[in-house]
Amino acid sequence: MRLVFVGPPGAGKGTQAKVITEKWKIPQISTGDMLREAKKNGKLAPELVEKMGKGGLVPDEVVIDLIKQRTELPDAANGFLLDGFPRTVPQAEALNDLLASRGQKLNVVVALDVAKELLMERACLRRTDKRTGQIYHLKYNPPPPEADLEHRADDQEETVRNRVDVYEKMTADLLPFYEKAGLLRRVDGVGDVKEVTARVLSAIEQSK
Ligand code: AP5
Repeated sequence: MRLVFVGPPGAGKGTQAKVITEKWKIPQISTGDMLREAKKNGKLAPELVEKMGKGGLVPDEVVIDLIKQRTELPDAANGFLLDGFPRTVPQAEALNDLLASRGQKLNVVVALDVAKELLMERACLRRTDKRTGQIYHLKYNPPPPEADLEHRADDQEETVRNRVDVYEKMTADLLPFYEKAGLLRRVDGVGDVKEVTARVLSAIEQSK
């Protein structure tokens, strides 16, 4: 199974991706996580660090290259879940070409829909455990006292607002692109995490 999760910042892509990938034993490949890891290790160019910090997208070729290398690893041989990639039509076309060159294709693209006013609260109150990568929310999913919490640099209100605007502009053509290809499944991302998981699984099931 090769699937893509698309959705605005705070839609719940990472939260749902963790559940699905654990269930199916496939890797979760998040370009956001890979870029943050590169930044932490001092391997991300300063201009890209600045771009991410302001909520803009990094250039297509940078993330395409990351995906190319990551999907070649043995753990991705039987499938993977791409979380936050592709975000633009050129990225989607590059992914198609990459998979075609390996005789593979995408099974489904799940778009998580969440109203704009909820996204701010979801992203601004998100906290992640540095050691485990577990995602929490100060209101909806409070962390245990022993968690070693991190507040993402781009989860400040103004930056989240910019990320949502960037998402709307940059992905405007992406959803129609996948709709035309017959791969798009839209899922309501509002509700209890388990409820949303059930909807995601049902959408994937229907696409088989
Ligand atoms: P990335 O890391 O991909 O961030 P994002 O797309 O903005 O998405 P988030 O991680 O903010 O949200 P999410 O949908 O995963 O939500 P989560 O599950 O955590 O990208 C970061 C940056 O990297 C980009 O801005 C860009 O600069 C760069 N980048 C990455 N990919 C790129 C690409 N392909 N091209 C170019 N640049 C790229 O949930 C959010 C919160 O809500 C959590 O607290 C969670 O606990 C809570 N929550 C989740 N589900 C529910 C629910 N059902 N009910 C209540 N609370 C919930």
